[in-house]
Amino acid sequence: MALLTTDINLAIMALQNDDIIGLPTETVYGLAGNIYSEKAIKKIFETKKRPFFNPLIVHIKNIDYLDVVAQNIPAKALLLAQHFWPGPLTLLLDKRADVPNIVTADKPTVAVRIPSHPMALALLQQLNFPLAAPSANPFTSISSTTAQHVKEYFDKELDIILDGGECKKGIESTIVGFTGDDVIIYRLGTITETDLEKIVGEVSIYIGQDDKPIAPGMLLKHYSPKTKTVLLENDVNLQLNNLAIKKIGALVFNKKIDDERIVEQEILSKASNLEEAAKNLYASLHRLDKSDLAIILIELLPNEGIGKSINDRLRKAVN
Ligand code: TXA
Ligand code: MG
Repeated sequence: MALLTTDINLAIMALQNDDIIGLPTETVYGLAGNIYSEKAIKKIFETKKRPFFNPLIVHIKNIDYLDVVAQNIPAKALLLAQHFWPGPLTLLLDKRADVPNIVTADKPTVAVRIPSHPMALALLQQLNFPLAAPSANPFTSISSTTAQHVKEYFDKELDIILDGGECKKGIESTIVGFTGDDVIIYRLGTITETDLEKIVGEVSIYIGQDDKPIAPGMLLKHYSPKTKTVLLENDVNLQLNNLAIKKIGALVFNKKIDDERIVEQEILSKASNLEEAAKNLYASLHRLDKSDLAIILIELLPNEGIGKSINDRLRKAVN
């Protein structure tokens, strides 16, 4: 059974013993292990049922540590790191040879970030190794934004889950890579295209083949509830008529849909605040998924800024 705790020392002991833990970050909870422990890294993949071709993000304690895991760091990468770290930005950089290939799925690059959650930072500062941590959810499932979510998924598999409360940002980090002088966003997050452009000038968003993604976070099915999920169409009435089923739920942006056939609704932000919507996203999906519904209707958000990043998750949650 997994223990929810705020005692960092318990986490340190587990990690030094090649075990993995539930780790709070400002984005989502992670399943964390020592990057140099083959046993821990294998356990991460097994626990998540994640295919080995899908690489992990390496979490480091400070910017100086970049040189321990990465090399040939582009000037623009350094600028972004200086500006956004600690924080929800992951950089794809040339890996150093001694970063184990199992962590990076044999790629020549390593994904790196410094998380800003105080508990994650305090933990990293007391360790003499970085932590590989994918999101703490089974492959393709809804990510975890509370310690309780992690426990519901992995009560048997984990001994220690650090309880750092609700994640402040609520969606995964923005992933950015560098090709020549180009800066490319591979996964959208709460640090937006506009935020990045203020620091390094023009950036582009990677559009790839979904079956062969560079960042497999771009796999088509992801962040998915167990309950059948469909996007809400413009004509709600017609859509509900066509569905002709009971136990319909909905995830909406700022106000409930006025139709009594929808028995359960989650509002992401009454104030239409996109940051608040991101923070509430996964907890709302978890609640709907536990409500014994036949179907969940999902309303897309305004497709700008963080709204675009949330919509990316919502489109993939549709199963
Ligand atoms: O906010 C986050 O980034 C959270 C917290 C725990 O830090 N972590 C997270 O990890 O979302 P994960 O494993 O669920 O997503 C990491 C994404 C995956 O899509 C993976 O394929 C991509 O990063 N990735 C990791 N290393 C990569 C690499 N070398 N090249 C391309 N993509 C990489
Ligand atoms: Mg994930």
